[in-house]
Amino acid sequence: MQLYIDTANIEEIRSAAAMGVLDGVTTNPSLIAKEGVDFIDRMNEICDIVSGPVSAEVVATEHDAMIEEAMPLTEIAPNIVIKLPSTVDGLKACRTLSDQNIRTNLTLCFQPLQALLVAKAGAFLVSPFLGRLDDLGQDGMELIQQIRTIYDNYGYDTKILAASIRHPLHLVQCAMIGADVATVPFKVIQQMMNHPLTDRGLEQFLADWASRNAPATAGAH
Ligand code: E4P
Repeated sequence: MQLYIDTANIEEIRSAAAMGVLDGVTTNPSLIAKEGVDFIDRMNEICDIVSGPVSAEVVATEHDAMIEEAMPLTEIAPNIVIKLPSTVDGLKACRTLSDQNIRTNLTLCFQPLQALLVAKAGAFLVSPFLGRLDDLGQDGMELIQQIRTIYDNYGYDTKILAASIRHPLHLVQCAMIGADVATVPFKVIQQMMNHPLTDRGLEQFLADWASRNAPATAGAH
């Protein structure tokens, strides 16, 4: 499973990239707004750090305006992926961009039929939002399973990018189901390598090592 970081924070992206396991980045308008920075400048900075897919989201809601907004974003770097909402206009924009070999990420996917249509429109990525479904008492993971089955049934190439990940268990379940990618907040990426038994075991190993008997010195009397 590929691992993207879901943030527009440069320090978080640098730290995750330094771990050597980062495959890409997703941003959204809320994450950019939280940073209080210029959108284009920040996307340039991110693309200087990460060579894998970097999603930049349009805020237009109608096809022509989406395309107009997307084209300059594609100039930022070859690894920019245009993020579009899973609406009818987003679907049409997805088709227009796919026909020009521009990669897209169809976001805000909450039901399997949205995922079916965006795959037919040539989306590179579809982003089902697990956590936001869980928040409503629905099973977000069931959506991932449904999309996996549909894509496998028909051989669609669109990659399932599990989004709105809230905790490590989401990631375990996504990996078991076979999501292609998960986009994960930095806090959860850090949690992925944590286990109290690892910390306790390491502490014990180091303590035992420090207290070991000094080896007998050859030739000592
Ligand atoms: C994905 O591309 C979105 O940016 C993100 O995963 C949304 O997560 P949230 O529901 O925690 O805001």
